[in-house]
Amino acid sequence: MAATVSLQSQSSGVVLPVRRFNSGFQAPEYLSFSSTPPRITHRILHNTTQSSRIRAVVKQESSSERMEVDISLSPRVNSVKPSKTVAITDQATALVEAGAPVIRLAAGEPDFDTPAVIAEAGINAIREGYTRYTPNAGTLELRTAICHKLKEENGISYSPDQILVSNGAKQSIFQAVLAVCSPGDEVLIPAPFWVSYPEMARLADATPVILPTPISNNFLLDPKLLESKLSEKSRLLILCSPSNPTGSVYPKKLLEEIAQIVAKHPRLLVLSDEIYEHIIYAPATHTSFASLPGMWERTLTVNGFSKAFAMTGWRLGYLAGPKHFVAACNKIQSQFTSGASSISQKAAVAALGLGYAGGEAVSTMVKAFRERRDFLIRSFGEMEGVKMSEPQGAFYLFIDFSSYYGVEVEGFGKIDDSDSLCRYLLDKAQVALVPGVAFGDDTCIRISYAASLTTLQAAVERIKKALVSLKPTVSV
Ligand SMILES: Cc1ncc(COP(=O)(O)O)c(C=O)c1O
Repeated sequence: MAATVSLQSQSSGVVLPVRRFNSGFQAPEYLSFSSTPPRITHRILHNTTQSSRIRAVVKQESSSERMEVDISLSPRVNSVKPSKTVAITDQATALVEAGAPVIRLAAGEPDFDTPAVIAEAGINAIREGYTRYTPNAGTLELRTAICHKLKEENGISYSPDQILVSNGAKQSIFQAVLAVCSPGDEVLIPAPFWVSYPEMARLADATPVILPTPISNNFLLDPKLLESKLSEKSRLLILCSPSNPTGSVYPKKLLEEIAQIVAKHPRLLVLSDEIYEHIIYAPATHTSFASLPGMWERTLTVNGFSKAFAMTGWRLGYLAGPKHFVAACNKIQSQFTSGASSISQKAAVAALGLGYAGGEAVSTMVKAFRERRDFLIRSFGEMEGVKMSEPQGAFYLFIDFSSYYGVEVEGFGKIDDSDSLCRYLLDKAQVALVPGVAFGDDTCIRISYAASLTTLQAAVERIKKALVSLKPTVSV
């Protein structure tokens, strides 16, 4: 049975429909309960100056008992936007499960299986009973292997007590933000950004300061812009290279210029998110920010196993940095999730044992990603009214389709931003993509090419067909 849910304003008595998804997509507006459903009415009981407190009056239909529950949430939750990528991926999955032939190019995960050697190591861990808690920071075996990797591949020296293994790089980043930011501190984030950075800053009561980077500059941060935004409040600069969503790779020279500016600000730390490090297309090369002169002391390097090793579901990432900061993150983790999965950690040791940059298993995947990137660049390059910057890494294309905005489509409505264009493409072409607004750039749409060439070919056909009817208002 379904329970009815409504919002009722005390002053007006008007019943408002409850919208449960902020993605802009249509979503079912009901809750279902497996046991006897209570009838729930949400009433705004009183307003504070900062936020409305909402109470639920829960009334059992079967009895006359009234039970009041305060369902108000922390202002912290109210300040955070839900992840659009997760919402769209979930919605596309639901459509596929309902039988719609949707092509899903919204998710940020490789379409490959975890390489067999890695999977075997996980299976063996279970067989051998390696299924207990590990030390909070991760096993010494894995942390030692990570130190070796960082020294060999990135030219940065750490000891195992300067490494913290977590349940995914997402946790590593969030803990780092929580550990170093105080209320009122500013977190500088070049846009387009990975969706979670600003929200993590907000959750830490810090203020995200967005630094726009234009497509004409390959979405790379202009050091002068950075310099102009720095103040006493600046605590953390988040860099992501190769970047999600743009695929841009920061050249060493540009990072050196940024480092020179950072060095002038004693309070400023840098979080370098290097999770796409191995998914990089020559001649582009990866530089770890911590390897630059004077930057080791103030850099928190984050990396993980999800992307390069196709291990998203194993949930394993890590942080490397000066002991003082890593110990603080370790403390947070000890009261939060404790150590990461023992099984995943064994698998991660096997992943790092595959050889330099993941050896052949990873280079085979990177080769496939490169072919797909080239295919998409060729395909969209032919289209009128499309602007692109050729990605040098990761598996995303961030395309400027804004010349298609401003069109009124019969039976659909106006396409006037990345959100409506994505909805249109999902409706008309049945291709799920992520609106650029989720990444702080409303002119673009993110296409993930973590899908087979055949799937991408079909998707491009569909997208082109759907866009043809929109007629670009601007030629490029
Ligand atoms: C830029 C970036 N950083 C971090 C993460 C988090 O990765 P993990 O799966 O290790 O939590 C992602 C995942 O999408 C990402 O794109």
